[in-house]
Amino acid sequence: MRICKPTLLSFVATVVVLHISTVVAAAPGGSRRLLYARDDPITIPPYLVFENVRLERAYVALQAWKRTMVSDPWNLTLNWFGSRVCDYNGVVCSSSLDDPTIKTVSGIDLNHGDIAGHLPEELGLLTDIALIHVNSNRFCGTLPLGFSQLSLLFELDLSNNRFAGKFPELVIGLPKLKYLDLRYNEFEGALPESLFEKDLDALFLNSNRFVSKIPVNMGNSPVSVLVLASNKFEGCVPTSFGKMGQTLNEIILMDNGLQSCFPSDLGLLKNVTVLDVSYNWLVGELPESIGQMENLEVLNVERNQLSGVIPEELCSLKNLKEFRYGSNYFTGEPATCRNLEYYNSTMNCLKEEKEQRSTMECKAFLSRPVDCDSFKCSPVSPCLSPPPPPPQISPSAPAPSPSEPSLLPPAPSRSSPPPARPCPPLYSPPPTPPQSSTPAEQPVGQIPEDSSSPSPMN
Ligand SMILES: *[C@@H]1O[C@H](CO)[C@@H](O)[C@H](O)[C@H]1NC(C)=O
Ligand SMILES: *[C@@H]1O[C@H](CO)[C@@H](O)[C@H](O)[C@H]1NC(C)=O
Ligand SMILES: *[C@@H]1O[C@H](CO)[C@@H](O)[C@H](O)[C@H]1NC(C)=O
Repeated sequence: MRICKPTLLSFVATVVVLHISTVVAAAPGGSRRLLYARDDPITIPPYLVFENVRLERAYVALQAWKRTMVSDPWNLTLNWFGSRVCDYNGVVCSSSLDDPTIKTVSGIDLNHGDIAGHLPEELGLLTDIALIHVNSNRFCGTLPLGFSQLSLLFELDLSNNRFAGKFPELVIGLPKLKYLDLRYNEFEGALPESLFEKDLDALFLNSNRFVSKIPVNMGNSPVSVLVLASNKFEGCVPTSFGKMGQTLNEIILMDNGLQSCFPSDLGLLKNVTVLDVSYNWLVGELPESIGQMENLEVLNVERNQLSGVIPEELCSLKNLKEFRYGSNYFTGEPATCRNLEYYNSTMNCLKEEKEQRSTMECKAFLSRPVDCDSFKCSPVSPCLSPPPPPPQISPSAPAPSPSEPSLLPPAPSRSSPPPARPCPPLYSPPPTPPQSSTPAEQPVGQIPEDSSSPSPMN
């Protein structure tokens, strides 16, 4: 049984891959070498009769997947045999979009299955699939190249598994993908710039091992929810929120190593209801424009190195309910902050509040002036100089096709996620946050529940 060997397999997309007998990958030097020979291809027993050829291909995909599963404690895949793949637990079928007379596999939902295994190349045979939800399992390895065949994939939820390796760039080429949830895995390295040019609706990358600057074009992303928390993103909060004003609803950057001032165009984020940049190394003042974030309900800037006076308009925002700004170096706050449903101002340099830093500590810190320009955060907006730096290594993905009215189901509700069940580390303890104590509350550290999830007990 092969378990999470490097999945550098080449996927022969053009062939109807019902039998893959040998898997070969190009070695870095250009020569081809045999990674391994698979001597047990999925064979279709001659007595099985399928409704149509797509279900036959789905059979191959699901059998190949089942074979990778080394543990299935709830027996979810116990009935994964035979030709009636639409009756398999967790498999959803519906009429094909291009031919309503044909039934095909349109979704897979193995949420909370606790299954250990990996994703085989053959999953690329599920070319009609719109939803893949495998949150809270023990799948490892990375996304096989076969996934690039899934041209109707709309929602991909791989959260709370043991996937590792670089950001799976092939997802950027999936033309219909709107909802990408990779949180609670072990992805590492940098994010490609093309990710923020893609027409996604929700992007969850929290609690991985990403280490890099946040690409400067973050503000081009049309997402409504962006969660990058609990990684090791460093450097600047991107300076331009560009196109996000009409679309962004929640942005969570907490618990990283971000080190810069706040972008001054923060006030453009008029639809944002939740902004959390706590547990970083942000400095300088809250920009005046923050008072223009008219839909803001929850603001968390605690555990940074912010200073100055909190803008008057902020605590007068009519929707603001909760404002945490403890463990910074603020020297003044409008009285209106005390009228909020919840505010926390501890450990600042506020004369009129209790539990503040010592005069000496405040004096020492505030004696060093903050120079926001010294962080050299470059704007991306063409109206601002200087021009953006040239794109980095990653080639940009093909432009997503213009979206048409979709027959596909809407993104799952994210309103009341269940408690987190963090994935245990495989090889080493998870990275520690920059400060000594861990955040008390983690609004983002939760695994969403899809209302259509089967109970593992069923
Ligand atoms: C799963 O199946 C095995 C063997 O049939 C059985 O022993 C076990 O109790 C089952 N587990 C559950 C959770 O039903
Ligand atoms: C953005 O906010 C405005 C008013 O504040 C509202 O009319 C509009 O529907 C919101 N847009 C989205 C995409 O939520
Ligand atoms: C304020 O926040 C700090 C963490 O920054 C926490 O320890 C403290 O209990 C909070 N105080 C109140 C009154 O909630």
